[in-house]
Amino acid sequence: MFPNRLPWRVTRRVEPVEPHFMTKLKQETKTADQAAEFDAFAGDYQDLHARNISISGEEPAYFAEYKVRVVDRLVGDEKIGSVVDFGSGVGASVPFFQQYLPDAKLTCLDVSEASLAQSRAVHGPGISFLHYDGDHIPLEDNAVDLVFAACVFHHIDADAHAGALANIKRILKPGGHFFLFEHNPLNPLTVRAVNTCEFDEDAVLIRAPRMYSRIREAGFSRLRRDYCVFFPAALSALRPMEQYLSWLPLGAQYFIWGRA
Ligand SMILES: C[S@@+](CC[C@H](N)C(=O)[O-])C[C@H]1O[C@@H](n2cnc3c(N)ncnc32)[C@H](O)[C@@H]1O
Repeated sequence: MFPNRLPWRVTRRVEPVEPHFMTKLKQETKTADQAAEFDAFAGDYQDLHARNISISGEEPAYFAEYKVRVVDRLVGDEKIGSVVDFGSGVGASVPFFQQYLPDAKLTCLDVSEASLAQSRAVHGPGISFLHYDGDHIPLEDNAVDLVFAACVFHHIDADAHAGALANIKRILKPGGHFFLFEHNPLNPLTVRAVNTCEFDEDAVLIRAPRMYSRIREAGFSRLRRDYCVFFPAALSALRPMEQYLSWLPLGAQYFIWGRA
């Protein structure tokens, strides 16, 4: 009776208040589905993404750089020797890690082999590309200075978040940084973009307090949560104010920064 992709429909796309439980088998199936879905979109990902966010007046690179700039600002002078881009997709953040953290050894990790191949073709040598089966990250314990996950967890089933966070914590050095960026389901333009985006068909948006609790329960400490990305290009003159609005749950995105 109702069209499947109403732009303002929010209910099915935000996690329910009570979590539901799935078996490990279902989680593995979901990871395989995600890989297949992003494999199918890898060639068109950048174009689809650009079209989908055009209402912001910005290109995908604006958002990718924004996030890496936040990381760079917050880690300050600390030496970051290794970064894992968890759910790196086609590598939108790669040029910005190379620009802002040029000394860090970058590893792109994803469940989608086609996305990794696309990223490898564009960004070439000097970067490691790792396929992830959604269960075990093929890296040593305590090996990495910083893990970055941008718009990945809304593609992971809620029941698998704890496992994914444990995997991330395992590979981080003690005190290592974890930065997670996510869509804010309280921002109507974000919800509209997700509801009209082909590769977000299965996305389930996560409210910031819930993601914060999960990261804390996974054992991360010194947590910080900021809302961000408030103004479209048409209001870019107001962007210097964003630093004072991090408490306001209306930003298009939020980030959570924790330490292993
Ligand atoms: C919306 S894209 C974001 C890509 C990139 N982080 C960016 O900001 O452009 C989501 C990515 O998460 C990946 N993904 C989905 N499930 C995953 C999982 N369980 N573990 C790691 N990555 C996953 C997808 O294959 C896809 O490349």
